[in-house]
Amino acid sequence: MDHFELRDGVLHAEDIPLPRIAEEIGTPVYVYSRATLERHAQVFADALKDIPRKHIAFAIKCNPNLGVLRVLARQGYGADVVSGGELERALASGMAPQDIVFSGVGKTRAELAQGLDRGIGQFNIEHEPEGVALAEIALAKEMTAPAVLRVNPDVDAGTHAKISTGKAENKFGVGIDAAPDIFGRLAALPGLQMRGVALHIGSQLTSLDPLEAAFERVGRLVADLRAAGHSITHVDLGGGLGVPYRPEDNPPSPADYGAMVARVTKDWDVTLMFEPGRVIAGNTGVLLTEVLWVKPGATNPFVIVDAAMNDLARPALYDAYHDFVAVKPTGEQMTASIVGPVCETGDTFARDRVIDTVESGDLAVFRTAGAYGATMASTYNSRSLVPEVLVDGDRYIKVADRIAASTIMAAERVPDWID
Ligand code: LLP
Repeated sequence: MDHFELRDGVLHAEDIPLPRIAEEIGTPVYVYSRATLERHAQVFADALKDIPRKHIAFAIKCNPNLGVLRVLARQGYGADVVSGGELERALASGMAPQDIVFSGVGKTRAELAQGLDRGIGQFNIEHEPEGVALAEIALAKEMTAPAVLRVNPDVDAGTHAKISTGKAENKFGVGIDAAPDIFGRLAALPGLQMRGVALHIGSQLTSLDPLEAAFERVGRLVADLRAAGHSITHVDLGGGLGVPYRPEDNPPSPADYGAMVARVTKDWDVTLMFEPGRVIAGNTGVLLTEVLWVKPGATNPFVIVDAAMNDLARPALYDAYHDFVAVKPTGEQMTASIVGPVCETGDTFARDRVIDTVESGDLAVFRTAGAYGATMASTYNSRSLVPEVLVDGDRYIKVADRIAASTIMAAERVPDWID
């Protein structure tokens, strides 16, 4: 459920008609709904009501906007971060350091030190040398780093290959068979407090089966580690729950997920940690765009919009589907390809799709763009960096400026040794 709906034939974000935002801010622009964000955060937390000890860390990579993070911080969410930059964002949004989990396959020594200096709650160690480095850095600072070992359970998440992370051939975590030995060696290091394990098998999962299979493997690992004398108090189950992108999509609900987790983990006696991203933010945002031109094509027309692959990269990167709807639908439909202005055929949002009929000057939105949208934007083709707006009832505010191509250019220079 979201708060983007037609009122008197005009698409609104909560109480704000989208044409008003287009007029005042310009297009393209991401528009987020605070009520939707809060609802999703609440629904996910409610789904975990049967889990006695838990911590929810929003995977801020999917939407690191400070305004968005502040809303979630107020809902009691912490953050899963994967870089020093994300760590500073989480703190700047008001999240407590101990509520921050530091994931990521390639943390630098400087980032490990930054995490320690900031007093974050947990490091998710990706492989043994990283754990050894963290122990050294912590020891030099006379600190102890709370850490878990990320394991790769070797299950097929059944999602797009580029966002699948839990197969043996993926770069993430240590093989689950090798995990007990590695854990044992890391647990012996002063400077580290090895308290559990973590996993994350992929994103946009549309079945709970691979998650359940992975959790069961991790449950056996926890038992093995305990049998070897280790104290296991935390298990981080990662994120990955999918969202509906097409109207007919029906992924498992947070409640289904919560029930499965409660069932599989009922005897684990640990604090469970969760790193949801898309399921919280996906449907809280749309990308508002204007139709520039409708151009005849060999088969169907091209609807050329002012948003492009640099603003919303998912279709170009993963052939992802984003629903496209007119802000003032007439009830008529057309078959068209939706493309952006960037000079690549890959800059295509949809091929030969039946959509609301639109003409030059009309406004439309790409839906379900609140996760992995603005955060993956670039300035390719010297386009501006897309702005973001947060709506709250009958008010809204720009939570990220449009960064003009001229501002980017101002940060460049021509060497004076080129005459
Ligand atoms: N935890 C870890 C360690 C992760 O790597 C990720 C996502 C998450 C949590 C959150 O997963 P979620 O709940 O959002 O599925 N750019 C791609 C998605 C990349 C996901 C990367 N990792 C896309 O647009 O589909």
